[in-house]
Amino acid sequence: MKRPTRKKKATTSSGKKPLRQSPEGVRVETGPIRLNKYIAASGLCSRRKADELISMGFVRINGETVTELGVRVIPGKDRVTVKGREILLDAKLVYILLNKPKDYITTAHDEKNRKTVLDLVPATHRLFPVGRLDRNTTGALLLTNDGDLAYHLTHPSFEVEKSYRVKLDKPISAAQLHELTRGIHLSDGKTAPGNAWIIEGTKRLEVALVIHEGKNRQVRRMFESLGFTVKRLDRFSYAGLTTTGLKRGEWRFLTAREIKNLYQLVKQRKNTEHIS
Ligand code: URA
Repeated sequence: MKRPTRKKKATTSSGKKPLRQSPEGVRVETGPIRLNKYIAASGLCSRRKADELISMGFVRINGETVTELGVRVIPGKDRVTVKGREILLDAKLVYILLNKPKDYITTAHDEKNRKTVLDLVPATHRLFPVGRLDRNTTGALLLTNDGDLAYHLTHPSFEVEKSYRVKLDKPISAAQLHELTRGIHLSDGKTAPGNAWIIEGTKRLEVALVIHEGKNRQVRRMFESLGFTVKRLDRFSYAGLTTTGLKRGEWRFLTAREIKNLYQLVKQRKNTEHIS
C-alpha cells in the first residue's frame, strides 16, 4: 500500500504568510490582502484608482457591495467584481521599459483616440504606464501589469529618482543652475533640492536635471519659472533604468535583476516610511 503523503502546512516555517513565486522570481502574497492591492495586482488599475472605485460603490466581494477601504480578501477564494466584471490575478507579471517617442500620450485609454504608449508595446497583457510623461516628452517609461509595484513607485513619498536632459531656448547661467538645485517655488509648492549640471559641448543650452518628485509638468514649470522655454525634454533614466540601447519607440522586457532591484527599492522605502 502507498504511504499517504503528508499535506504541506499553509504557513512557512517562520510562521509568515505563504508566498507564491511569480515567473520573474518576485515573491507575491497569497494570504488575505487588502482589496485595493488585490485589484491593482490584477492589472486593472493602480491602488489609488482602486480606492476610488471602491468608494464609488463599483466593487463587490462575493456579491456584496463594499465601500469601506481596508477590507481584505483571500485570492482564489473570494470573488471580487468591479462594475460587474470578475477580477482575477494575472498569473504573469510583465515589466517593459519603453523609450517613448514624441506625440504619444501616457495613458491606458484616450477618449479622443490619440496615439497612446500602449500602441507601441505588445498587447498580450493589460499593461499600464507607471507615472506620466507629457505628450512631447521622450524617454524612459516603465509599463507593467504589476499594480502593486506601480503603486509604490508612484507614491509621493517614494521619491524615485528621475533624470532628464533638457534643451533650452537660451544659455543658462551658473546662478540659475544653482537655483534649480536648491528648489524652485511653483504654484503647488517648492520643489525639493535636486542635482543639475550643464551638458558639455552644448554652449550652456542643455542641462541634465535629477529630481525625486513627480509634480505635474514639473521640469517644464521649473525652467519656465526661470524665464526659459523648454525646446526638448528627454528622460534618460527612471529608477535606475536607462534608455541606453533603445531607439525612440523601442522597448524591452526588464531583466530579472532589474525587477529585483525595483522590489528592493520598494522594500527599503517601506522599511523607512511604513508604507503598506
Ligand atoms: N516634467 C515635465 O515637465 N514633463 C514631463 O513629461 C516629465 C517631467
